[in-house]
Amino acid sequence: MKKYVPEPFRIKMVEPLKTTTREERIEALKEAHYNMFNLRGDMVYIDLLTDSGTNAMSDKQWGGVMVGDEAYAGGKSYFKLVDAGKDIFNYAYIQPVHQGRAAEKVFFPTIIKKGQVAISNMFFDTTRAHVTLAGGKPIDCVCQEAKKPSVYAPFKGNMDVEKLEQLILEYGKENVGMILMTVTNNSAGGQAVSIQNIREVAAIAKKYGILFNIDAARFAENAYFVKIREEEFKNSSIKEIVREMFSYADSFTMSAKKDAIVNMGGLIGIRENAELYQAIKGNCISFEGFVTYGGLSGRDLEALAIGLYEGIDDEYLRYRNASMEYLASKLLDAGVAIQNPAGGHGVYVDANAMFPHIPYYEFPGHTLCVELYKEAGIRTCDIGSFMLGNDPETGEQIKSEFEFARLAIPRRVYTQSHMDVIADALINIKARASEVSGYRITWEPPILRHFQAHLEPVQ
Ligand SMILES: Cc1ncc(COP(=O)(O)O)c(C=O)c1O
Repeated sequence: MKKYVPEPFRIKMVEPLKTTTREERIEALKEAHYNMFNLRGDMVYIDLLTDSGTNAMSDKQWGGVMVGDEAYAGGKSYFKLVDAGKDIFNYAYIQPVHQGRAAEKVFFPTIIKKGQVAISNMFFDTTRAHVTLAGGKPIDCVCQEAKKPSVYAPFKGNMDVEKLEQLILEYGKENVGMILMTVTNNSAGGQAVSIQNIREVAAIAKKYGILFNIDAARFAENAYFVKIREEEFKNSSIKEIVREMFSYADSFTMSAKKDAIVNMGGLIGIRENAELYQAIKGNCISFEGFVTYGGLSGRDLEALAIGLYEGIDDEYLRYRNASMEYLASKLLDAGVAIQNPAGGHGVYVDANAMFPHIPYYEFPGHTLCVELYKEAGIRTCDIGSFMLGNDPETGEQIKSEFEFARLAIPRRVYTQSHMDVIADALINIKARASEVSGYRITWEPPILRHFQAHLEPVQ
């Protein structure tokens, strides 16, 4: 078992948690139509639904909240945030927005033309949806190693560079609106992307004159992986690695609710193209609010400016990564299969390995989420066929490459004993896995269905 690295912080404020009985949880699941997003938060003991916006802010960030400048235009907190963004990413233009999907909504229509495709190492679900809403078609192009959960590889988040070039030739470069690199690769298991791979993808984007955008939600965790796994960067600081990563792209869209350790916020970055920045400002004013607040309060801008620096702190990232590895190693030692290695923001449990008797259309990943909640009040979410939904052209259920239950770990929130509770729950489920059956959908909305769909157990 891997060693737990002690938290580089102490607890100043606590939030009491309610414990529930198994019977209460079974009742809560029925009321929620077996959808994790419909559960009441106070019925959850350990909430691993997402690491997005669920992080604990520091005393400095809360201090910043008190001095946030609420001016409609030109507030001090805006300039503090823009300075932090320029300093960390080395980009000329930084535009705040209220969250990641807002960045996508503001930015993608300025780039993707109707009928074009966008190619990514893997799109996150809202990112995929915003490519479609902009009139484009999203295509995933992750490397082959990602598709073998049990086999360790250091950079399972990488783009399949050969396939990327084939796709560009197949569709024609004029029909490819954007190449997008998600760091870390959330949908493949929070897996790392190497700088070597970013360089190769950037070279292809340049060769064919296609815009290269980074989905930067977990940029700091990716930089940490580069530091510990890519020889060339072992002596570089996290900030140097971040600057190097972003130097190859033209732009980034970012949900700041992850690595910038805030509860709300997003950013768009443009490396140098002033015209593009102008187009973004127009959309931002229409959809989010004036350029100098971008849908956020001054206090949010202030907390975000501080959080950007806290998120790239070496010691914090070492602890964060070690807590994932501790949980992952407990599971692997007990024979619970995961996407190996652990991701930067969570451990992805391989539900296909846990429930080989449940077919993809009965949602093994989602089934494991339900079992975890029943077992110990732990809320997680499916990253698999349930999340992927139906093919927009045929209406058929898409078969996902993976069926994961994602244990997304909020930042600076849970302790080592919470990790032990999570591991024990999964080990107990594994012992009775053959008795568990899957789920079917009884109602679903047309888009992003996993947030709202109703399900029932398959008997
Ligand atoms: C990789 C990635 N991109 C984009 C988003 C969307 O961000 P938000 O939830 O802030 O809208 C997320 C959210 O989880 C994400 O993980």
